[in-house]
Amino acid sequence: MPIDTRSMHTHTCEELRSSDIGSTVTLTGWVWHRRDHGGLIFIDLRDREGMTQISFDPELSGAETFHTAETVRSEWPLKVTGVVRARPEGMANDRLATGEIEVLVSEIVVLNTSKTPPFQIEDHGETSEDVRLRYRYLDIRRPKMLSNLKLRSDFTFAIRQALHDRAFTEVETPALFKSTPEGARDFLVPSRTQPGHFYALPQSPQLLKQLLMVGGIERYYQVAKCFRDEDLRADRQPEFTQVDIEMSFVEQDDVMGALEDVLSDAFAKVGVEMATPLRRLAYWDAMDTYGSDKPDTRFGMELHDVTSIFSTSEFKLFANAAATDGVYVKAINAKGAGAWPRAQIDKLAGVAEGFGAKGLAWIAFREDGSMNSPIVKFFTDEEMEALRAEMDVVPGDLVMFAVESRLKADEILGGMRLHMANALELPREGHDFLWVVDFPLVHWDEDRKAYAAEHQPFTQPVEDDIERLESDPLSVGSRTYDFVMDGFEAGGGGMRIHNAELQMRILKMLGFTEELAHEQFGFLMDALEYGAPPMGGFALGLDRVCMLLAGADSIREVMAFPKTSSGSDLMSEAPSSVEARQLKELSLRTL
Ligand code: AMO
Repeated sequence: MPIDTRSMHTHTCEELRSSDIGSTVTLTGWVWHRRDHGGLIFIDLRDREGMTQISFDPELSGAETFHTAETVRSEWPLKVTGVVRARPEGMANDRLATGEIEVLVSEIVVLNTSKTPPFQIEDHGETSEDVRLRYRYLDIRRPKMLSNLKLRSDFTFAIRQALHDRAFTEVETPALFKSTPEGARDFLVPSRTQPGHFYALPQSPQLLKQLLMVGGIERYYQVAKCFRDEDLRADRQPEFTQVDIEMSFVEQDDVMGALEDVLSDAFAKVGVEMATPLRRLAYWDAMDTYGSDKPDTRFGMELHDVTSIFSTSEFKLFANAAATDGVYVKAINAKGAGAWPRAQIDKLAGVAEGFGAKGLAWIAFREDGSMNSPIVKFFTDEEMEALRAEMDVVPGDLVMFAVESRLKADEILGGMRLHMANALELPREGHDFLWVVDFPLVHWDEDRKAYAAEHQPFTQPVEDDIERLESDPLSVGSRTYDFVMDGFEAGGGGMRIHNAELQMRILKMLGFTEELAHEQFGFLMDALEYGAPPMGGFALGLDRVCMLLAGADSIREVMAFPKTSSGSDLMSEAPSSVEARQLKELSLRTL
């Protein structure tokens, strides 16, 4: 339902067409461009809907109005009244919805003046991001930012509606809570009334939504702010938003089916088709084939295990790998890069080192049928033949190898696969949706010298693997699923443990003593003993999904007031120091 805000204007700057010619209208908006042309002044007036050309003629507009128009500058907000008229022959702008008309102004009110903005409010401005963030309110005036924020609003509304239509209940959970382990550092908030005690801002509402299931809510969702003090990247902010979901009395397929239904409905409302059921890739298949647990499958360049080809090779690095348990020779074929100059190929070793490789073995198959490679001299014709067949080699290909343990080889080549796809500008059209399932329950954390939960410590292990929880934790599977969109982890979830005894076993395996577990999660352990139902859920990374929908390359482009990579808000200069009085009230002293 349109709301009537017409007391200041009669139309938006996007509304007028040829059919309005002759009408008297009033518009409000900002001065985008102003042009003086042989005694006439033209201004592009912009509001959030669009742009209309307004014109001033010394004779027809009246001297006073014309004189005022001469004084206005970029980004001044105006209110103008005038008559809609056709633009002169040949002056229509067919790229603009209002391009056939202009408004000949007879009355102008300058609503405010503006300093010269630090950058052009244009989409193609090459403004540095720091300046954009410092003046974010001006940056938001840019049509691209405005449309990103509108898209975010539309998608958020669509997913809320999809969940509401399916009888999910939105429940708000506190922002001042207790530290819960999601793998990042907590933001702490000191308590004034209990000196020396701290709240933690939630890394996610994980435990609270499990408690809501114990409370019988059965289908919960929340558009929830989450806070994680971790190193920032293009797809990470310290403060971000999840569409958080949990269901009870359900099996894993019920949850995944419900999620597919909700997500495809919400995507459809913003014009994106997500065909269901989604493809499911097991974690190890994703790692072995794409070298990533969030694969972009819009292009091939798949990883191949070529270990057995080289088991008797003269090339000792490969032959030794083949003879060593758990070490693999894996390869990818970057089609087109075989024609690159040697110097460009040589630089790839440095790239691979960035992904953890000790070096990079490669073979360039030149267009003239020759080969260029530091290692090819070691290989027999049979080995080369087998390699060509396995890697589907044609002239122009560049085959690269990683010789490592399974996971490491996968990660190195997964990194190279993406690097090469970008370097070769492989087309990646449309959106790519899939599930990655069957993650391991834990991995070994070398820094902490302990097992760490792959998702979080409340995830249900695979039933048949439970007996190996203590004897071989790395072999235990989990009932988890990640939602992958265009090569990004756009969401993740799993089935939860609803049995107190099993929960304690897992916490102990993760290195918690019984006392520590009770100290940190006593309320959860208690609740599990009061008839907790089977449950499972999911959280969608709203910022990441909106970034991908908007075709942006950072989540900052879909957040109104994001932080820089060092966690600062350049506009307000947060974080900032506080008065000594405030610290005293909180019984705090800074070092
Ligand atoms: P997880 O930690 O996987 O799961 O987070 C869910 C999704 O949130 C997004 N995300 C982020 N987005 C921006 N900045 C960040 N710093 C950031 N961290 C995570 C990702 C991710 O897939 N409680 C569980 C969910 C569950 O099991 O139900 C959780 O938080 O898109």
